[in-house]
Amino acid sequence: MLLKQSFPNKHNNRNDQSNDTLSAPSEQAVHKKRELEVIAKETLRQVIDMMDDTFFLDKMDTIQKDHFLRQINHTVDVVLTEFDKHLSQSDKHKIVKDLSDEILGFGPINPLIHDPTVTEIMVNGYDQIFVERDGKITKTDVCFRDNAHVIHTIDKIITPLGRRIDESSPMVDARLPDGSRVNAIIPPLAVKGPILTIRKFAADPFTSEDLISFGTMTREVAQFLRASVRARVNILVSGGTGSGKTTTLNVLSSFIPDMERIVTIEDAAELQLRQEHVVTLESRPANIEGKGQITIRDLVINSLRMRPDRIVIGEVRGGEALDMLQAMNTGHDGSISTLHANNPRDALARLETMVLMAGMDLPLRAIREQVSSAVDLIIQQSRLNDGSRKIVKVAEVVGMEGDIITMQDIFVYNQTGVDDKGLITGKHTPTGIIPKCIEKMKEYGERINIEIFEEKFNEPSPRRF
Ligand SMILES: Nc1ncnc2c1ncn2[C@@H]1O[C@H](COP(=O)(O)OP(=O)(O)OP(=O)(O)O)[C@@H](O)[C@H]1O
Ligand SMILES: [Mg+2]
Repeated sequence: MLLKQSFPNKHNNRNDQSNDTLSAPSEQAVHKKRELEVIAKETLRQVIDMMDDTFFLDKMDTIQKDHFLRQINHTVDVVLTEFDKHLSQSDKHKIVKDLSDEILGFGPINPLIHDPTVTEIMVNGYDQIFVERDGKITKTDVCFRDNAHVIHTIDKIITPLGRRIDESSPMVDARLPDGSRVNAIIPPLAVKGPILTIRKFAADPFTSEDLISFGTMTREVAQFLRASVRARVNILVSGGTGSGKTTTLNVLSSFIPDMERIVTIEDAAELQLRQEHVVTLESRPANIEGKGQITIRDLVINSLRMRPDRIVIGEVRGGEALDMLQAMNTGHDGSISTLHANNPRDALARLETMVLMAGMDLPLRAIREQVSSAVDLIIQQSRLNDGSRKIVKVAEVVGMEGDIITMQDIFVYNQTGVDDKGLITGKHTPTGIIPKCIEKMKEYGERINIEIFEEKFNEPSPRRF
């Protein structure tokens, strides 16, 4: 389970790890590795032989696990005697650890899954495993034996979740019990071999205070967003992949008042809302006969019959955009979602394209009118070069001029440079424009200090994530 305290900035010294792994191992090291593999393989064979029907690996308690580890230890000794070999304590310990990871956990990536400093694990091939730490991606020296070993591990992860993967359905999106998101894709779709991506989530999700302390936003931006959510302003979080959209969506959702009925709709339920009155819906892929698919769009349509006060859609990426906009325009205001786009203007263009995907053949002008009257705010999120995540813009949609949707920036992040540690410096700045939605905030009794929009709030934002 991931501890959020361990996230930013505490483990910077790990970034040179990839360089170590790139240098070729000596002949002696390769020989030793092979020797350990042979011993480990024989031990594994003997341990498996020893296991009978009374072994339920997933149901073992701590005492049984300890006992099992001792048995592995003993079997290593037996194998070493058989092979007439001697190993150092550390090599022996490594074999026992690898085998227990293999049998009780998820094989070679087990330590990465349990390492709280790792936020993402990317298996690009059996011998190419990358991780993200502190927002930075580095290659590890961990590897699987071969492609079959990766597929075996993928099976081990997804089978208890009631999912399966094989040539006829070579893609899986799932969620581990701790909330981590798992994606696996295998040949023939993944041309070079099975690929596994695990996005870990903090057991205790990031709060607005966390995002302020990381420098993702300032307290003023947070105040504005809180008042916007509470005043039922329609908000889209836009950004690239892994830029922190879902995390920001979760923080925004946390501002929704407790008494409101919230319906969340996602492909794999990632949001962790604290409110009591929450209905969580998850889409479903087609079954082996290609039937039974329930799309995000189906769920959005269904959710309208569930008397929602708020609809929170994890990500819009298709025809559901039309239903979402209609919902936003017809009494379900205060809805929030995310989408992939590089800037707020792009986000509007993507929305238009997605509405066209609904297949209603609407004229462009009508779509734009619907977008401009439905969407109030676009929060642009970015993963900067130093690995930090920032809200780089908060833009308000104000209306239409001719055929063009007009927008105004309320807050922007200006990068001023890079410090001697390679970390980006800059600050969040109000543009001086008083947002139009402030009227709506007044209607809902949300008090907001108008001074936060004035440029005197140009304080430098803290440097961390
Ligand atoms: N503000 C932040 N500061 C530091 N780390 C963050 C921040 N927001 C998110 N993260 C981390 O970045 C990773 C990606 O976050 P998240 O899933 O929210 O991104 P996303 O944009 O929704 O990604 P995707 O495009 O894959 O859906 C996670 O490991 C998360 O913990
Ligand atoms: Mg996301």
